Amino acid sequence: MTIGNIIVLSGAGISQESGLATFRDSDGEWSRVRLEDVATPEGYRRDPARVHAFYNARRQQLGQVKPNAAHFALARLEESWPGQMLVVTQNIDDLHERAGTKALIHMHGELNKARCDLCGSIAPWSGDLNQQSHCGDCRQAGHLRPHVVWFGEIPLEMGRISKALNQCHLFVAVGTSGNVYPAAGFVSQVRSRPGTRTVELNLLPSEGASLFAEANYGPASEVVPAFVDHLLNSL
Ligand code: APR
Repeated sequence: MTIGNIIVLSGAGISQESGLATFRDSDGEWSRVRLEDVATPEGYRRDPARVHAFYNARRQQLGQVKPNAAHFALARLEESWPGQMLVVTQNIDDLHERAGTKALIHMHGELNKARCDLCGSIAPWSGDLNQQSHCGDCRQAGHLRPHVVWFGEIPLEMGRISKALNQCHLFVAVGTSGNVYPAAGFVSQVRSRPGTRTVELNLLPSEGASLFAEANYGPASEVVPAFVDHLLNSL
């Protein structure tokens, strides 16, 4: 097989077996809480304490979960693949990096960082955030928010992602429902270039399943390591 550049787009499904809920499955986050309340700038302005509580709980959960076989398999692929590989994740958890992935973009931000609305500083944040939290740079209180991208905001590093998509030969989407743009549109962007291989790895066919040329369905902890083995054995 040709050695080329790989992009893996991951979503909440890859972390589900680590114990983190997805969003749109029947037991997902959006079945318990309205996304308008906790994942929009308007919801934050209306009730910052509620939004902080939602992300504080999720940040605390990170200490109780570990990467699973799917995260580790992708790190192994990055280490062994002779071409370039980039993981673009919609997840705000830190399981890819804890598994060893190095080339990684968190397009929807990171739970373990806080951003100051006043001075723009972005800093690691492992404890709880609240309206009294002080920015480590400008020292002002009341302006720190979770460094996550909410609905209506622009995802991070889109320029770098778009450039990588235009140079990729294999695009693999793992554990994402294909509901949220711009990530849901990446497969169409790469498909427009002849010869680019597109693969969906998911528990069930996603909204965008018909856009992928290939698919393997099952739990990420099984289908991702199997796919990685297959790729590496084909070298
Ligand atoms: N293995 C593989 N796939 C799984 C597993 C599993 N164990 N469990 C669930 N899935 C699949 C589901 O079938 C679904 O297609 O993962 C997908 C999860 O979809 P969503 O809950 O919509 O998560 P995601 O696609 O990451 O959501 C995108 O929406 O609300 C926002 O900002 C949030 O980044 C998130 C974005």
